[in-house]
Formats: sequence, C-alpha cells, structure tokens
Amino acid sequence: MARLNGVVAVLSRKREPVGTVLEVDAPETQRPWGWTPSGVEVAADHLVIGDRACQVREVAAWPAVLAPGAMPDATLAGEAALVIGLAPVPAERVNAALDKALPRQQSAAREAQRKGSVDAEQERKIRDALALKEAIASGMVRHFDAHVSLLYWADGAEAAVEAARAAQRRARERTLELVALRHSQGPSYHGALPGGRPVLRGLLLDQSQASALFPFTDENLLDPGGVFAGINERTGAPVLWNRWLPDVSHLLVSGDTGYGKSFVVKVLLTQERVFGRPLLVLDPSPKREYAPLLEALGGRYIALQPSGTQRLNPLEVMPDGAALAEGHAPEQHTGRPVSDRIAAVKPIFAALCGESLDSGPFDAVLEAALQRAYRQAGCTDSWDGCFTGAVDALGSLAWRPKTAWPTLGDVRRALEASEDAEGPRYARMLAPYCQGGSSDLLDGQTTVTLDSPVVGLGVNDLIAAGGRFARAGYAAVVDYAAQRFRALAAPHKVLCVDEAHNFLRDPVMAPWLERQTREARKAGISMTIISQGVADFLRNDTGRAIWQNTRCKLYLHQPAGDLSEAAAQLGLDPQMLGEAAALPRGHALLQVAERVVAVAVQAPDTLQPMLRSDVAAQPRGDA
Ligand SMILES: Nc1ncnc2c1ncn2[C@@H]1O[C@H](COP(=O)(O)OP(=O)(O)OP(=O)(O)O)[C@@H](O)[C@H]1O
Ligand SMILES: [Mg+2]
Repeated sequence: MARLNGVVAVLSRKREPVGTVLEVDAPETQRPWGWTPSGVEVAADHLVIGDRACQVREVAAWPAVLAPGAMPDATLAGEAALVIGLAPVPAERVNAALDKALPRQQSAAREAQRKGSVDAEQERKIRDALALKEAIASGMVRHFDAHVSLLYWADGAEAAVEAARAAQRRARERTLELVALRHSQGPSYHGALPGGRPVLRGLLLDQSQASALFPFTDENLLDPGGVFAGINERTGAPVLWNRWLPDVSHLLVSGDTGYGKSFVVKVLLTQERVFGRPLLVLDPSPKREYAPLLEALGGRYIALQPSGTQRLNPLEVMPDGAALAEGHAPEQHTGRPVSDRIAAVKPIFAALCGESLDSGPFDAVLEAALQRAYRQAGCTDSWDGCFTGAVDALGSLAWRPKTAWPTLGDVRRALEASEDAEGPRYARMLAPYCQGGSSDLLDGQTTVTLDSPVVGLGVNDLIAAGGRFARAGYAAVVDYAAQRFRALAAPHKVLCVDEAHNFLRDPVMAPWLERQTREARKAGISMTIISQGVADFLRNDTGRAIWQNTRCKLYLHQPAGDLSEAAAQLGLDPQMLGEAAALPRGHALLQVAERVVAVAVQAPDTLQPMLRSDVAAQPRGDA
C-alpha cells in the first residue's frame, strides 16, 4: 500500500490541537519536519526552508458526493501533505444562522403560494432547516469549521509552485477547487509549518486511511450507531461497528487458540444484549466458559448431556417468527414446514449413521423414512397442517402444535420397516442414539426449556462422547437453537457458534452450516461463527461460500499464508489482512466489507471476571 507523505493535523481556531495529529509515514530523509530548520523564509505564497520550498493550497469547494480516496488521488501526487483543520462550531451559532434564514425562506414560500404556485426549492430549504434544528437539539449533529489544506514540497520555490499548480489542474477535473493559501491566512498554514510542532504525537497513516478522513467519513465509525468493537490501534479512537446495517451480517471470527476470540465475542454479545437483542450461545468449552457471562446477563445456561433425562427433538417443527410478528394465523401463512425440517435434519442423520447423502441409496431411504414418520404422527406439509392458531391469555396470537412430533425412534422404526434392503442396516446404526442407547439426547419430545432471551447451551459433554455423536449431536443443538430463534418474533437475534471448525472441516457438515447461515439471515439472525483460522473457511466450496457472503470478519493472530489466501479470495490487498499474523493476544483486525481497522479489544473492569475462558463455571441447569 502506498504510503502518503504528509501530515494530517486536527487544530482548533486558536491553533491549539484539539485532536490527534496524524503523521503520515514517510522515510526520515523525506520529512521536511524531521529537523528544525535554521531559518524559514516566508514569501507571499510559499515558504522557503533551506533549499526546500513549500506551497500551500486550501480546498475551497468540493462536490457534495466525493468518494473517499478521490481527493488524494487527484491532489496528492509527488511530495505532498494533507492538513485537515477541524474547529467545533457552537450549536447556538448554527441555530442563529438558521433562524435568520428561515423567515426569509418562509415568506418566499408564502409569496409563491399567494400567486398560486409552489416554490419547491424554498420548501425543501425550510424542511431541511427544521430537520437540522431538530437534529442539533437532539445532539445527533455537530458542526465543524473545516479547513483542508495541501502542502506541496519541492527543491526550490518554482518547483513547489509548479507542483501545486499541476495538482490544482488535476483537482479541477474532479470539480475540487483549490486556492493558494497565503501566509496571513488560516490556522492550517501555521499548523503545517515544519519543525514547529514537537509536542504533538505522531501516528502512522496510510493512503486509504488518510483518504477515509475526506470528506469526513471516518474508519472508526463503521457505523456511528454500532457497538464498541475496540480501540483503533493507530488513532486511539473508539471503533464502532454495526452488524445489522445495511442488512443483517454474520460475523466470522478466526484466530489461533488463546488469542482472544471468545473474549472479543463475549464483549460484543454483552453489548448486543444492552440493545435488547436475544442471544443464544453454543458453548463447546470444557469449562463452560460462557456460563458466568450469560448468567450475569440474566440468562439461562444448560449443559446438555448425551444421555440423561433431558431431550431435544430435532424433528420438532417450530412456528415461523416472521408470521407471528405479523399476527398471521397458520392458515394465512404459506410454506412447507415439514419438507424444510426434513432437509435440515438429513445431514444430521447422515452424520449419525456415518453415511453420505451424495452416494448410494441412503438419501432416498432416509427421506422416505422421515416422510413416513411425519405422516404417521399426523403432520401434513403446511403450516396449518402442523399448527392451530390460538389467542393466549394476554391476547396475542400463539401457534399450538396439532399433534406430537415424530421422534428419532419413529424414524428408526420407519427405517426398519423400509422396503429397501439397506433400511434395517441404517436403523441399526441409529440404535445407539435412541432411548436406552449410549447417547439418547435426541430421541423423544423436547424437555429442554429455553424460556429466556439469553441462553447458553453447553455441548462439551456431547463432543466428549466422541464418535459420530460428537459432531452430529453438536449440529443437532445448533439446528435446534437456530430453529427456536427463527420462531422468536424479535427482528434481530445473535446466535453464536464457538469452535465451528467442528463443522467447517467436515464434508457433510460444512454444507449444512452454509445452509444454516442462509436461513438464519432471512430470519434476522446474525450468526457469530468462531473458528481457529481462515483456512477452515477456505478448504471447501461451502466454507468459501460462507466466507464470501459474510460482510463482517474479525481476524486474530494466525498464519500469514492463510491470511493472504483469504485476502485473495475477497479481492483484497494481501497486506491488508497480513497484519493479523503479527497481532498479540487481545488485538484484532475488524473487516467490514472492504474496510479493515486494527483494534485493541477492551472490556470494562466490571465485566472482566465474566470474560475469562480459564475459570471453570459452576455447573447449573444440568438435568
Ligand atoms: N482483549 C483481552 N483483554 C484481556 N484479556 C484477554 C483479551 N483477550 C484474551 N484475553 C485473555 O486470554 C485468555 C484466552 O482468550 P480466549 O479464551 O478468548 O481465546 P480463544 O481465542 O477463544 O482460544 P480458544 O481457541 O482456545 O478457544 C482469556 O481467558 C483472557 O483471560
Ligand atoms: Mg475460545
């Protein structure tokens, strides 16, 4: 990435810094301000310092729409520097100006009305002014006087003046207007004097970051309404990021073990909860590391057992949250809930049986057995075939199941009765997961109650059971959690799947996870998918599909080679992600679409005890 040669200063009217001075990276020898000059000659429109000369231009006008980056491209060729001076304008001053203009605009509008016409321009101005006054009153808008100056350095005054003129011509092509700034004008001129600002802190900035400052977009505000993702490593400013805008995005978190993936996710989950969003976390850690936080947030944590008294039925169909939110009765809602459920559970059954859905008769035989199980339970493939609408005590519409859902045991019996010769063999493979078997959590009607907006499901014991159940059991819980979340009417929900490499590295489960991500987004669910490295996403087509279709990503420390491959997949400069290879624990790159910001993850002291992964939680909610 090209490094820009210059200084970005944030100054107040009194020429005192009010913000950070950002020093753009340049070799020491090229820094005119890297030494204290023996004397400065101030000419009418340029400075001469030793054998170096500088011409200053101020941006006098710029178009309303100017993409970040356009400005340096057009104007910062050669040895140029950019100075941005921002001085806050008191709200009273802006209000006074608006109050002065409003009566004039209102009388012009009235005059037009009297003549039987409409002065659309005046009416728009009135609307804008009133909206602006409201925004100022509510604190949503603050005003700044902005000076944007450009400094052109060269050996000798003539060359500096020529460099400035050439830049001015290029700027005009972009409808940017630059005017020569004279020694007597503007604080920026003084702010830019070389050698004169030893007290200011210098920070490195590359071209994309400098250009992001103009026209006053800011990489720290990936969305000003968002949650706090961390401190910008370069500027010290808080980085705010919003996973819900412009549409729901999942978050992919990757990094080597122990570098703080779970930590940052816990910080983000806490903030999402502050905004009232329901959370559901799948926790595979042996120490139930999410329990302290989720319980502190008033939630419920349930450590699931492969074989115990609790049950979680993967064949249960849940109501559609979007339809509930609209107040639709089941008969008003179209869809094929049974077919959808069958498609969702087939990979889980395949994983339990150790069979593939792509080859041999397994898919067809299983499909027939699942269909038969639903038929025998009395469910038909429509919402009103599964549910009846009922108004509850509080007057809101609820959907009640018409019959008991089929169970895993029912599918096993249907396989046994299959006309295909392989059916009974598949039935035997399911036996360990049916009631009385070694891991029978999934056989029977659901008893686990998820009656809180914050839920943690501990799945370590399922994974520890090993064998096929390790992956399939975890998958069934993710599937159940996602389904339950889809049934919630809340518009935004966060579903967190930690240690997702369990799925990404598996040829059957990776497509299943990809399907989950697509369905989830449609239902307003943002999944947080945590994995040990970007490589987990890049090793198969479905992993790559998840990767490419996710706008928001967090990269922690991991191998450089994987990061550059990931960048290539996204059409990004490899260096943009490569930095993550050198990050210490607790630091991350946050990527939102094409923008990447390095952040130091921080949490308030009060939260710290809840964020550690190495403290065993007291088991609660076990059956
Ligand atoms: N930003 C941070 N500030 C303070 N401590 C941190 C930070 N990030 C991580 N830690 C500490 O490092 C420990 C390990 O972090 P964490 O459990 O989040 O790693 P991980 O990447 O999730 O590892 P694993 O892959 O093993 O799950 C935490 O228990 C915590 O004490
Ligand atoms: Mg972790």
